[in-house]
Amino acid sequence: MERLTPDDGIFRDEDALRDHFPDRILERDDKLAEYQSRFKEVVRNKRPRNVFVYGPTGVGKTIGTKAVFQNLERSIEAFDYEASRFDEPSLRTVHLECKDLNTSYQVAAHLLNRLRSATNRDRVSTTGYPEGEIYRMLFEELRQVDTSHVLIALDEIDNIGGDDNILYKLPRCNNDNSAAYVDPAATKVGVVGITNDGTFRESLDPRAKSTLCDQEIHFPPYDAVELETIVEDRAAVAFHDDVLSQDVVPLTAALAAQRSGYARTALDLLYEAADNARSADDARVTENHVKTAEESIQQGAIVEEIRGLSTHGTLVAYAMLRLSEGEELPAKIDKIYAWYKQFAEQVDVDPVTSRTIHNTLNDLMVNGTVTSEEVNKGRSGGRHYEYELGCRAEILLDGLEGDSRIGPVDGRL
Ligand SMILES: Nc1ncnc2c1ncn2[C@@H]1O[C@H](COP(=O)(O)OP(=O)(O)O)[C@@H](O)[C@H]1O
Ligand SMILES: [Mg+2]
Repeated sequence: MERLTPDDGIFRDEDALRDHFPDRILERDDKLAEYQSRFKEVVRNKRPRNVFVYGPTGVGKTIGTKAVFQNLERSIEAFDYEASRFDEPSLRTVHLECKDLNTSYQVAAHLLNRLRSATNRDRVSTTGYPEGEIYRMLFEELRQVDTSHVLIALDEIDNIGGDDNILYKLPRCNNDNSAAYVDPAATKVGVVGITNDGTFRESLDPRAKSTLCDQEIHFPPYDAVELETIVEDRAAVAFHDDVLSQDVVPLTAALAAQRSGYARTALDLLYEAADNARSADDARVTENHVKTAEESIQQGAIVEEIRGLSTHGTLVAYAMLRLSEGEELPAKIDKIYAWYKQFAEQVDVDPVTSRTIHNTLNDLMVNGTVTSEEVNKGRSGGRHYEYELGCRAEILLDGLEGDSRIGPVDGRL
């Protein structure tokens, strides 16, 4: 084996493409201004409002929240309160990742420890207390905090699912009809709930919803032009000069916009393309590296999707595979359903309705596993849809391999 050396002809600093707080948040000025304006009360030394932030993954919700919090602190520092009619507020901000916290209890305990970390007070164990005791300690801690304001961001809060007590109690703790009352004269509390899950808001307890979702901020996906600006900025740090062919960044942005519109998608794609160029000892990253990387990422996503399908979904994917091998595609839903039903019976599963299978096919179109086309049969025949495989059959086979549910009807699996 040759020795590995740190020298690298492609990357100057690949960390610039990874998840981190970037030097500049681009293409989000209006959104961040709107977001920050919801905290106007804080700089006026009034009670803050609660904010609910939603949008898909990788569109800047986390970094946007951190930036808004940071800018609020700076705004307070920069303003001359003495010369004004306002008392100077003092602000403590907490950003808590709730990705691995799946109960309100866990969130409350971790939050308590974060608040205590500043004062070096004892941490509490995150298990074992009665739930009421954890809340009692949390609200006591909030009363004792030495700042006038505390803003708490609960990121990816949807992980708590239906166990959403904390989202009722915390956002209303300054209301005097609350059992967990925190006197705003002692501490004014504002809560930001952040989620990637578009359905979470609707699943909230109505009481939690009305307090937490007082104000809402939606982070939409980026378009290709916006992604290009973001990627360009990061690429300037990540790569040596003149390593990227001219069309690499626009192509990366266009493909990522098509697939998702997430900055994360675009940065990952560029990293993958450049990493492939480096492995092949190529001096430059070209459009072809990007195209190949996009294809392999998409294929990986399809294999993952198929492995995660329900029994019926798996049977639909298998029906599509066999139809493709029999050169029966594109096919109408009726035909796909007939094949699905036959396999369901073979593996002893009660078939679901053709309507459900229709929805499954639509789900499989999101990652491009399946595609559809409207077919126009002229005046008499009317219009209908036909479905086709959107990926190579081997990729489907790869995803189905080792599936114990279909294995018995197909020796290859
Ligand atoms: N507007 C932007 N400007 C620069 N980088 C961005 C922007 N939006 C997202 N990113 C980058 O994309 C990644 C994901 O952003 P993040 O805020 O974690 O997304 P979310 O919380 O919405 O899932 C981070 O690496 C971040 O640096
Ligand atoms: Mg996030």
